[in-house]
Amino acid sequence: MAVMNDILNVNLNGFMLQNPIMTASGTYGYTDEYDDFIDVAELGAIVTKAISLNPRVGNKHTRITETEAGMINSIGLENVGIQKFLQDKVPVLKSKKINYVVNLAGSTIDEYTKLAEICNDNQIKAAELNVSCPNVKSGCLEFGTDENSLYELVSAVRNVYNGFLIVKLTPNVTSIEKLGIAAEKAGANAVSAINTLKGSQIKINCSLGKISKTIITGGYSGMGIKPVAIGAVIRLSKVVNIPVIGIGGIRTLNDVLEFIAAGAEAVQIGTENFTHPDIAQKLVYELAEFITQNGFKNLEELKKELRK
Ligand SMILES: Cc1cc2nc3c(=O)[nH]c(=O)nc-3n(C[C@H](O)[C@H](O)[C@H](O)COP(=O)(O)O)c2cc1C
Repeated sequence: MAVMNDILNVNLNGFMLQNPIMTASGTYGYTDEYDDFIDVAELGAIVTKAISLNPRVGNKHTRITETEAGMINSIGLENVGIQKFLQDKVPVLKSKKINYVVNLAGSTIDEYTKLAEICNDNQIKAAELNVSCPNVKSGCLEFGTDENSLYELVSAVRNVYNGFLIVKLTPNVTSIEKLGIAAEKAGANAVSAINTLKGSQIKINCSLGKISKTIITGGYSGMGIKPVAIGAVIRLSKVVNIPVIGIGGIRTLNDVLEFIAAGAEAVQIGTENFTHPDIAQKLVYELAEFITQNGFKNLEELKKELRK
């Protein structure tokens, strides 16, 4: 059942979404992997798994572990590489009319710009620069934690890419505001926040008085990070003039409303997809129902009310 009208439409600084519910990179595959659960084409957009210039095999195990209020992952950007993505995945996205954003990851400015050039040549409408992955040894997070490096990187990408450019920010910094400002100055069309927090879990085993332990380190995501994400969105919204896309621990309609009140123009759902694969579509319906039941004309009117 489709949401039949346009009350949820979002104009994200030129990038049109039929609703503000997107899915977060790395939690939703590349295309229609969730089609058994929902009609993916009904979402605002999906963000692909991070794509690099060449295929990557990712990190060794253990790559995922559950925590009390979320999970820690250390996937290490395993992906099929840009050429296979263009060849195998883009045709599916097009034929199923799925609105999508390509999440791009690289180790050097050169790698990012080559990727962006390829996206430009292939008319990819929207890209999200992943400068915030904590699970790889070089690149990525190095750009996302230093405002000058980030400015240089985003400027270089902007020079070769004419599509909608989102810069995905990390919470693993003292001032996310400085990074947001640098991204905007360099020509980003939007920022998204947040990527995962650096975290570790220690699994302790005791057998006959001998302790053995396994330390799992990676990016922490899920419900436990929501307050950090809300805080980041509030601070970013005050200092940038481009849309902020909120990400982090979203599971319920109330979470979506909280992010919108904080200043988010759209949201991305991540970890929750793993336990409730239909959650993104459910939130689209719940948001539409909330708007009509409470007498708002559309999402824009609700946004104004939430931000008073
Ligand atoms: C298993 C897993 C893989 C992820 N892979 C990526 C990725 O490839 N690129 C990226 O920008 N973010 C990646 N992320 C981060 C998410 O997109 C999101 O920013 C983060 O998980 C916070 O949202 P959540 O709490 O709703 O999961 C990944 C997260 C998880 C859990």
